[in-house]
Amino acid sequence: MKVGFVGAGAAGGALARALAAAGVPVVAVTGKGPERAHTLAAAIPECAAVPTAQDVADRADLVVLAVPDRAIAEVCASVRWRADAAVVHCSGAHSLDVLEPARAAGALVGGCHPLQTLTGAPEDAARLAGSVFGIEAEEPLRGMLADLVERIGGRPVFLSARDKALYHASAVLISNYTVTLAATAAGLWEAFGVDRRDGLRALLPLLQGTVANLEQHGVPNALTGPIARGDAGTLERHLNVLADYRPDLLPLYRELGRHTVPLARERDPGGAADRMADALLALLDGCGEGGE
Ligand SMILES: NC(=O)c1ccc[n+]([C@@H]2O[C@H](COP(=O)([O-])OP(=O)(O)OC[C@H]3O[C@@H](n4cnc5c(N)ncnc54)[C@H](OP(=O)(O)O)[C@@H]3O)[C@@H](O)[C@H]2O)c1
Repeated sequence: MKVGFVGAGAAGGALARALAAAGVPVVAVTGKGPERAHTLAAAIPECAAVPTAQDVADRADLVVLAVPDRAIAEVCASVRWRADAAVVHCSGAHSLDVLEPARAAGALVGGCHPLQTLTGAPEDAARLAGSVFGIEAEEPLRGMLADLVERIGGRPVFLSARDKALYHASAVLISNYTVTLAATAAGLWEAFGVDRRDGLRALLPLLQGTVANLEQHGVPNALTGPIARGDAGTLERHLNVLADYRPDLLPLYRELGRHTVPLARERDPGGAADRMADALLALLDGCGEGGE
């Protein structure tokens, strides 16, 4: 099956390189402008950089629309699809309605979303091996996509249209918001004279240890820290210092804490966190000793 890409950015580039490395013929690529498409085509044997999405559709059996989510419907509508074509987008949040023009022309339509964070770096393609791919498609496309995913070392997970937004929200929580938390945590170091970049460098081994604990022990057992220990005094000190130094962060700290208390109880029923749960929650709600 010949594969073509509309979109040569982070996702399109990684997928095209990974498929080509797995021996799948990637025959054509286009972008909004020519530069990235040319760079990508040059890295893949027998792959042509072509001017338009129509040119990709004319050369490939499976067309991957690896364009920004907001452009998928417009790009799909701009092409005259063959009835024997298959068209797939890479969005985690969108369902297949954005591919309606292709479906109306008789093409098979689907979604194939790499559950990975891709930035356009060369190591992205290798990172896809071991990643989950959220697939939304009917047979026979579903099986074809699962096969391609497995060829690049990925793990297919089948989703319905109804699942998509929640599935993608979970990806945003674990990936994007970890970056937000990292920036927030590292920014606190500025209060004691360490800039955010060095603060992040200092915190990264801790984050890596946390990820390793999650891999090894899962949830809730990966949880450590004052809430897991039922240490209300330390929690109170955090709330007090944040109230003085960064009151804007208190709602975030409190909310994450509220979600952490039940985990700590689950981790050690009858243990310190379980026994202290009411006091911890009262502090987090601003009702305990030292609360605002
Ligand atoms: N990045 C990730 O971590 C990631 C992970 C999973 C899924 N995805 C999904 O992958 C898709 C692409 O995201 P991305 O991060 O790869 O975006 P990106 O890096 O911005 O790349 C977008 C590509 O689409 C091209 N493009 C934009 N508008 C176009 C148009 N109207 N016609 C033809 N080509 C057009 C761009 O052309 P130029 O090269 O000329 O700019 C670029 O090559 C999205 O659906 C996204 O949700 C991304």
